[in-house]
Amino acid sequence: MQGDTLNLTVRPLSSALGAEIAGVDLSQPLSDATFKAIHDVWLKHQVILFRGQSLSEDQQIAFARRFGDLQPVRTTPGLYKNPYVLMVTNVVIDGQKGALPDGEMQFHSDQCYYENPAMATMLFGIEVPPSGGDTLFSSATAVYDSLPTATQKRLEGLQALNVYDYGNASTIKSDKIDENAPKFVHPVVRTHPETGRKGVYVNRLMTNHIIGLDRTESDALLEELFLQIEKPEFIYGHKWRVGDLVMWDNRCALHARTDFDPGTRRMMRRVTVKGDRPY
Ligand code: OGA
Ligand code: MN
Repeated sequence: MQGDTLNLTVRPLSSALGAEIAGVDLSQPLSDATFKAIHDVWLKHQVILFRGQSLSEDQQIAFARRFGDLQPVRTTPGLYKNPYVLMVTNVVIDGQKGALPDGEMQFHSDQCYYENPAMATMLFGIEVPPSGGDTLFSSATAVYDSLPTATQKRLEGLQALNVYDYGNASTIKSDKIDENAPKFVHPVVRTHPETGRKGVYVNRLMTNHIIGLDRTESDALLEELFLQIEKPEFIYGHKWRVGDLVMWDNRCALHARTDFDPGTRRMMRRVTVKGDRPY
């Protein structure tokens, strides 16, 4: 498609992060110029939205591949035929329940419990509940920038343990950590490898504690960061429509999900792009 870049328009979705890109049909191969324009918007706004898309699994994968090598599913390998696709849904498909089926999810960054967490996550809206089940995004860089200088200094060099145990644990963290749960220690503040911006890299869903602090001190410092992450001024809340493609940068944005009626259907097709070790 010659000149397709010219048709691309960008509309910010909130003051902190998120942008809707219009004028692109993601089911078609994109020129290098169009892809670069999309990539630039993504780096700047951290979350991008395309409405009204009609995408097969292969077309979604082809678009995701433009951003880098895909990350095969690690937590539930073999759940679906395609190793790169995870259905985030409460609907039973081929006798299998989907991943992350129901309910609210606290803020987190995908795969922060692995050495190399996914760089990007992409969800395509196939079925959307009539209300609730919104995906919320918080800008980890805006949160970091908002912290008092003394707090930023205090966080320098600190590391935290992230654990994937929310399937069977509440958000109250205990000292008992499941031996078999995937877990990894990452910096509390990470630097985005492409923009150089610093962002908080701890989250209420999976960060258990900060290394080297006693439990009370760690809990207090984490709570201060979690409350900041949850401030409306840093958040864009996405209300889903069928045909929405949303892609976020796990290196600088956190996400959460609001509750929804489990009697209603919600189905998202998820593809992730490989990432590097946070520093
Ligand atoms: C995810 C996720 C939130 C949602 O797929 O990683 O957190 O809104 N999804 O379903
Ligand atoms: Mn997630």
